[in-house]
Amino acid sequence: MSAYIIGTGAYVPARVMTNIELQRLVNTSDEWIVSRTGIRERRLAGPGESCSVLGAEAARRALEDAKISAQDLTHVLLGTFSPDAYIPATAYALREQLGVPRGIAMDISAACSGFLFALETARALIALHPDAVILVVGSEVVSSRLNWEDRGTCVLFGDGAGAAVVTSRPRPGSARVVDVLLDGDGSLSDLLVVRGGGSAAPMKLGQPVGDDFFVQMQGREIFKHAVRSMAAITQKVLEKNGMQPADLDLVVPHQANIRIIESLASRLDIPMDKVFVNIEKYGNTSAASIPIALDEAQRKALIPPGSNVMLTSFGGGLNWAAALLRY
Ligand code: ACO
Repeated sequence: MSAYIIGTGAYVPARVMTNIELQRLVNTSDEWIVSRTGIRERRLAGPGESCSVLGAEAARRALEDAKISAQDLTHVLLGTFSPDAYIPATAYALREQLGVPRGIAMDISAACSGFLFALETARALIALHPDAVILVVGSEVVSSRLNWEDRGTCVLFGDGAGAAVVTSRPRPGSARVVDVLLDGDGSLSDLLVVRGGGSAAPMKLGQPVGDDFFVQMQGREIFKHAVRSMAAITQKVLEKNGMQPADLDLVVPHQANIRIIESLASRLDIPMDKVFVNIEKYGNTSAASIPIALDEAQRKALIPPGSNVMLTSFGGGLNWAAALLRY
């Protein structure tokens, strides 16, 4: 039973934070940020704009694109590491905001790979339940877990959400999810963590939060693993499907750092004009980055029928993933 993406949508908050603004917060410069990361600005969620609120807005746009109603949804899957709360699952808050509180909803924790881990879960659900109509969302308010005194992390991330509707019934313009591979290595978990408040680092009533409450990472190490793992898993998906890198019409990688994206393209021997990049506008929006980029690429008519599109991500875990779509 094949799974198809029949609609996509994205939403980013209105508030823009430029690199110049960041220069006032930490010892950094626009030149350093642009040359090391490719990021010029990012969006920040405003008051009341939680993970579910951003996700619900992206979902409305995806439902409209798919020409279906929220009532048609059987499942809501949400990839995020910045949920509204520990309990309940943010996917339920999102369902409720779509006006359909009743039904199945769950959060999937895979950091920046959250969207692709949720997409593969959707594919598995469709194999079991061919009538399933699944909303797959990546939504993040990363800014809620950023240490605004740590220049090594706060300049890299942004907030946003992207969504896709996945079913077994294609429509004109749909993408078949040809294949997805997921992988990871828990021995590399220390490279990117948000430990504070977890059951291994519990908090006591009245205790002020420490820096472990926010994203902490070893950027250089992640950089190396990111390039290696995304290139390897992309190659694996291509080989499994009897394809070469040259058969790809577009690669939509996780938008973490332009230098990671360029190194990936060079390893795969794919020219940069076949690689979608929007990191300059949004920074790293974690689980939202791929669905935002895919939606933008489609709306810019960069994906004509017949295109082979590869999505690939890496994230805290560490984990990595690749998905081959055929339009
Ligand atoms: N402004 C100015 N200087 C800075 C900044 C900043 N914002 N941040 C770090 N520096 C300094 C460092 O302190 C260091 O100074 P030093 O040499 O005096 O010690 C110098 O710049 C070089 O630091 P490096 O870490 O070696 O710089 P690098 O070229 O590796 O770039 C970066 C750092 C941008 C973090 C890069 O390593 C990277 O992008 N790594 C990947 C990170 C990533 O993608 N994380 C997301 C993971 S996905 C997920 O699941 C959320």
